[in-house]
Amino acid sequence: MTTASAAAIEQWQDVVPYLLDVDGGRHNLATGMPLELPSMSAAVRAAFRAAVDDPGFSSRVARYHGVLGDEVLRERLAALYGERFALPVSSANVLVTPGAQAAFHAVSALMARRGRKVLFFGPEYPGYRTHQDVRYEMVHSDVVAEGEHEFRYVPPRGTLDSDVGAVVVSRPSNPAGNVISDEALGELLRECAAVDALLVVDNAYAPVIPSLAFRELGMPWAPNVVLVQSFSKGALAGERLGFVLAPEPVIEMFAELQAQVATFPPQLVQLVASILLRDDHYVGLCERDLRERYRQRHQLVGEVLHERMEVPFLLHASDGGQFRWLHLPELRTSTSELFHELKDRGVLVAPSAPFYLPHLHREPHARTSVRIGVTASDAEIEQGLGIFAEVVNAGR
Ligand SMILES: Cc1ncc(COP(=O)(O)O)c(C=O)c1O
Repeated sequence: MTTASAAAIEQWQDVVPYLLDVDGGRHNLATGMPLELPSMSAAVRAAFRAAVDDPGFSSRVARYHGVLGDEVLRERLAALYGERFALPVSSANVLVTPGAQAAFHAVSALMARRGRKVLFFGPEYPGYRTHQDVRYEMVHSDVVAEGEHEFRYVPPRGTLDSDVGAVVVSRPSNPAGNVISDEALGELLRECAAVDALLVVDNAYAPVIPSLAFRELGMPWAPNVVLVQSFSKGALAGERLGFVLAPEPVIEMFAELQAQVATFPPQLVQLVASILLRDDHYVGLCERDLRERYRQRHQLVGEVLHERMEVPFLLHASDGGQFRWLHLPELRTSTSELFHELKDRGVLVAPSAPFYLPHLHREPHARTSVRIGVTASDAEIEQGLGIFAEVVNAGR
């Protein structure tokens, strides 16, 4: 397909085929492929060996098990998160899932059943929109300047009506790298409670696992809170392991949905996770080595852009996660259209439109921003952003 005839990349499914193309000879800054640290891979490998050698191995893999997940793992997770964030939780507040994604679908399935809509603040991760019978709505985040070259998205207040059954936010966010402040999240939680809506917080990048936030953050807790967690960025993306922390009535509803779809979560990886959490080693790797590596990559992206860009640009404040978000206020075309030209020059970045619902696609931030993944190598980031800057500097 030639560049001229290629359709603009406006939908998430247009981006997805490029996300796995990490060995294809292009500088892939569109991908969200997690960073692999040898020390973490070694810890996971050792835990798998120990799990296979465990006397309970055969009954683990050969038998049927309870829908909520392994009791030992659930106790460890409740203790870890309970202590860290002073949450009043026990194993009864933990549902193990085959990845966080399964929990997001459960949110939508619940909303479909209740006939309530799901609200996001754009830009937001498109993976939450899983159900054809659910009405998804989005309002644009407020844009707050932070210095000359940075800004921050803040959830606007007073946007919930009584049809809203759930609000979903990623924190740190995909795509912007934003950590909504504890105060703003508390306010949102109260607004959700006032219309009997769930506040679903996607902690896939948050502490404790995998700890990709660069400043301290609190965890909310209330009868309408759902905390969705993932081991994916902690060197386990391929094994599909996540969990939900929530008040018991919410756990029961989610468990009922899980029983219908997956019966119960996979067993061996749960044993692996319990082994990884027996001492502080794995959590320490997340909190020190992994977080530091992500912080360096965030910084590198900022430095290269400051060095190479000759046209006005704004970066979202760097609070954590796998991505940096760049807004180009004077770009004449859209980043959806620019995608193919960049691809033909050997660099992939995710255009902004797929992170918005279509009615917002004309908004400046939805038209002329890009998500830049930080998990490519330093060399790929430097070369890829160098090409990106050349193209944009040439007056697109
Ligand atoms: C913000 C965010 N949440 C959740 C997920 C999915 O997590 P999991 O692999 O546990 O399904 C992703 C995947 O990259 C993500 O970017």
